[in-house]
Amino acid sequence: MMTNNLGLYVHIPFCERKCNYCDFNSSVSKEGQRSKYLKTLIEEIKRVSLSYKNNNVDSIFIGGGTPSILSVNEITVLVSALKDNFSIENNLEFTIEANPNSIDEEKLKTYLNIGINRISFGAQSFQDKELEILGRIHRAKDIYKVINLSKKVGFKNVSLDLMEGIPLQTMDSFMDSLNKAVELDVNHISVYGLIIEEDTIFYKWYKEGTLSLPSEETERKMYRECKRFLKDNEYFQYEISNFSKKGFESKHNLKYWEGKDYLGLGLGSHSKVNNKRFENVSSYSDYLDLIKNNKSTIINIENLKEQDLINEYIIFGIRKTKGINLLGFKKTFNLDFLKEYSQEIDKNVKNGYIKVNDDYLFLTDLGMDFSNKVELDFYR
Ligand SMILES: C[S@@+](CC[C@H](N)C(=O)[O-])C[C@H]1O[C@@H](n2cnc3c(N)ncnc32)[C@H](O)[C@@H]1O
Ligand code: SF4
Repeated sequence: MMTNNLGLYVHIPFCERKCNYCDFNSSVSKEGQRSKYLKTLIEEIKRVSLSYKNNNVDSIFIGGGTPSILSVNEITVLVSALKDNFSIENNLEFTIEANPNSIDEEKLKTYLNIGINRISFGAQSFQDKELEILGRIHRAKDIYKVINLSKKVGFKNVSLDLMEGIPLQTMDSFMDSLNKAVELDVNHISVYGLIIEEDTIFYKWYKEGTLSLPSEETERKMYRECKRFLKDNEYFQYEISNFSKKGFESKHNLKYWEGKDYLGLGLGSHSKVNNKRFENVSSYSDYLDLIKNNKSTIINIENLKEQDLINEYIIFGIRKTKGINLLGFKKTFNLDFLKEYSQEIDKNVKNGYIKVNDDYLFLTDLGMDFSNKVELDFYR
């Protein structure tokens, strides 16, 4: 029987404190909430995995929220449930997201023992003033401590998230943070431009006019300098926000951008399997009740039509630095991309946003600043 590869995303919706900018599905856990959630999640794993017995799991990402908030015992039980219920490839990429202040040596050793081989820290900045504004509970010294500790216990694949466009951030303070990430010699760096999301403290401050944000022009400069600096230091950009040393691109994240199959488990998680997109309910109490009553937690099932798949191929493809694989497009859809989209291509080439070579169509540096515009042009 044919086996299909599958990535697993497992959501842990708890944080020690809610950051001022974040609208991810996470909250500060109340007494007993964590153990109830884990019990429910494991029930979901057992139940849902029955439909995926022919799939071969080749990447796992435990994200959040803050998965590193789980105790050694809790994470061990969760990972055992995944191993007991899915066919998991040996040596797969297995990531956990972590907050620098919820990690200790015992947790790191446990992660390695149970097969987690990649750790992604939400550092955001190396400036204590900026971390304070962001509402982070860690400080710069905690980042150094956990990165060095991770390497000492044997992690060979460490990633850091940084943010640009933080209130009060300057070009100098941003470049200083980038430089410190590079000095720590991590394998992978994600740099996210701050998005002011509704229902966050930042949104409230923004509306009140008390959020002092860098100008759009400064942000653009930061992004360009960031790309130059990371390239000079042998971090290769492989997606709009992602940079890695050679061979350390995130295999799991690449699945999202390459239209491959992944299954989300846990509160509010998203999936794409066999040309269908669907998601889990995002209300904590609904999720618990539905699993308890043996009912489906899935909502918003979307059967992807040919044009949806084409749109995704283009939009995810263009977000990667390499760009859209023209031969791959032809093989997948039996269409000549250059002919089908000739008007959109002409317009964006004239604007200096894209370039085409024999094999790929890709964003220029200028195009990366306006990627949303380009994506919209190609969307049908
Ligand atoms: C879901 S968090 C998980 C990491 C972990 N919870 C932490 O923050 O330490 C993943 C990343 O999303 C980014 N992020 C969250 N909210 C954002 C926003 N409003 N704008 C830009 N990036 C954001 C942060 O860089 C964060 O590290
Ligand atoms: S950024 Fe990370 S730690 Fe902060 S609230 Fe969001 S998920 Fe939690």
